Amino acid sequence: MCGIFGCILKNGNAAPIIHSALKKLEYRGYDSVGTATVYKNKLFIKKDKGKIDEVHALHNLDDLPGRIGIGHTRWATHGAPYQVNTHPHTDCKEQIAVVHNGIIENFAELKMELEERGHVFRSKTDTEVIAHLIEEKLTGGLTLAEAAREALRQVVGSYAIAVVSVTEPDKIVCARKESPLVVGVAENALYFASDIPAFLPLTNRSVVIQDEEIIILNDGEYEIRKIPDWELVKREPEVIDWTSEMAEKQGYPHFMLKEIHEQPSCLRSTLRLQDQFLELMTTFIDRAGEVFLVACGTSHNACIAASYMFSKLALSATHPVIASEFVEQHGKSVNIDSTLLAVSQSGETADTLAALECARQRAATVLGLTNVVGSTLTRVARVYVCQQSGPEIGVAATKTFTSQLSVLSQLALRLAKRRGKISHVEIEDLEEKLKQMPDIIERIIQTKEEKLRQIAKKYKDKRCFFFLGRGISYAVALEGRLKLMEIAYVPAIAYPAGESKHGPISLIEPGFPVIFICPKDDTHKTVIGNIMEMKARGASIIALVEEGDEEIKSLADDYIEIATGLPEVLSPIPFVVPLQLFAYYMAVERKCDPDMPRNLAKSVTVK
Ligand code: M6R
Repeated sequence: MCGIFGCILKNGNAAPIIHSALKKLEYRGYDSVGTATVYKNKLFIKKDKGKIDEVHALHNLDDLPGRIGIGHTRWATHGAPYQVNTHPHTDCKEQIAVVHNGIIENFAELKMELEERGHVFRSKTDTEVIAHLIEEKLTGGLTLAEAAREALRQVVGSYAIAVVSVTEPDKIVCARKESPLVVGVAENALYFASDIPAFLPLTNRSVVIQDEEIIILNDGEYEIRKIPDWELVKREPEVIDWTSEMAEKQGYPHFMLKEIHEQPSCLRSTLRLQDQFLELMTTFIDRAGEVFLVACGTSHNACIAASYMFSKLALSATHPVIASEFVEQHGKSVNIDSTLLAVSQSGETADTLAALECARQRAATVLGLTNVVGSTLTRVARVYVCQQSGPEIGVAATKTFTSQLSVLSQLALRLAKRRGKISHVEIEDLEEKLKQMPDIIERIIQTKEEKLRQIAKKYKDKRCFFFLGRGISYAVALEGRLKLMEIAYVPAIAYPAGESKHGPISLIEPGFPVIFICPKDDTHKTVIGNIMEMKARGASIIALVEEGDEEIKSLADDYIEIATGLPEVLSPIPFVVPLQLFAYYMAVERKCDPDMPRNLAKSVTVK
């Protein structure tokens, strides 16, 4: 996730406006920043790696001439955060500049073809192909907008782009597919941005650009066209009545809620990861004598779910280990045949890095799954995969958890395929269901959020909760508990449902709330038995069930229905979403700040 912004002013300098707007988009990415302006038929570019303030201190981002410009704040996906990989990217002749938020899936093929035709690339980014494609189309005699359209027709993936060119110095051409793009309309200026807060102090009139549309900005006027058939679209600006603070959270009261709602789009991004890195990682896992999945907190819960995925799909045992315990538990036995897959949203968690260091010293192979390219984990790992969830501001991990699950399930599936442990039909079914996951989550959020708010209202004063699940749903129980404890400060216990009768059941008294996670998998029958045990002792049952599961619905005091027919290994992805929303509304009901829970930090860099 990156932020893009640009403007065409009637008068004055674009660069300082771009600079302050990018500051408002910094939450979308902050590892490098750049601006390009057009002035007297020349492009002027300043860009570098680092936070906006650092780059500004070095290069003065306000000091570029011209009333037209584009800017970008980056969250690296393809290519580490170096100056050369910073946007804007240019064509061979440095006449065209492009900023982009999204992922070009077929960039490697396009780049190869362009290089064969003599184009010289400077960066390792996927974005640069767009600049070179437009360059080719322009030499064929098209206008800038037509050239951008033709270039984008060759591109597979997601994008919000903006292009300027010295050949048409009065225009900015923008386009979008699956990445956000809005245009701000003022008396004396036109703006575009990834997000409304970037221009809200300047205008509250906005035009939302839809998927596969191009917008041509030109001195106070704009023209929208559909990319597939070039049809003209008439769309008037709407008035936005958000305050600046509301706008930063896109109208949501908290970042956590915004991030829960972002999960469909984050999951779509996990389906576009670079094949070569997933394959390479699968090779290391395949060859390892033993595989440890090392992480803390939510990432550890993802690892527990992953151990079921590897076991069920690839028939392969992996060991999820809490990072702070790794050295004590395995520090002496880990060796050259061991592989550690470290899972860390931030890539900076001290406990996780300490486990990796111990393993590295004993010649083990270290792999990483993280959300932050350029983090320590990406530097120490032999291979890393970036889960591409975009920055997560809320301390409680939500969107990054479901994205981790998606990536880990893809790895398990690849290993299963490679080892011939899974049938063709199962592979196709899993791949299909992974593709449907964003829509399934969208539907849960749309249809169940209000009900979960009501359930939170009903149970807000309970002093303790149980979360129970069997099999892979145990990981969901752990994550539901962690969310509730960390943001609503309600003590909670999570157990494998079968284990609860070996001790914790003694806590149950009439009205004690027990949340059961009950997908219709092989554990379903035994879970019903566990529900009965709890009910017999007066517990209040809140059940997460698949649609049409009348048996469990009839036993529950409250229930939430989730799409049916999910493969067992993918069920944690949708089943955790109601628990995130429940924890969020419990925090709100109990007057706690879900974004900034006490005593916690987003990234824990001490051991
Ligand atoms: O950045 P990491 O994934 O390594 O962070 C690990 C934990 O600190 C983190 O998941 C923590 O548990 C979250 N606050 C959970 O919401």
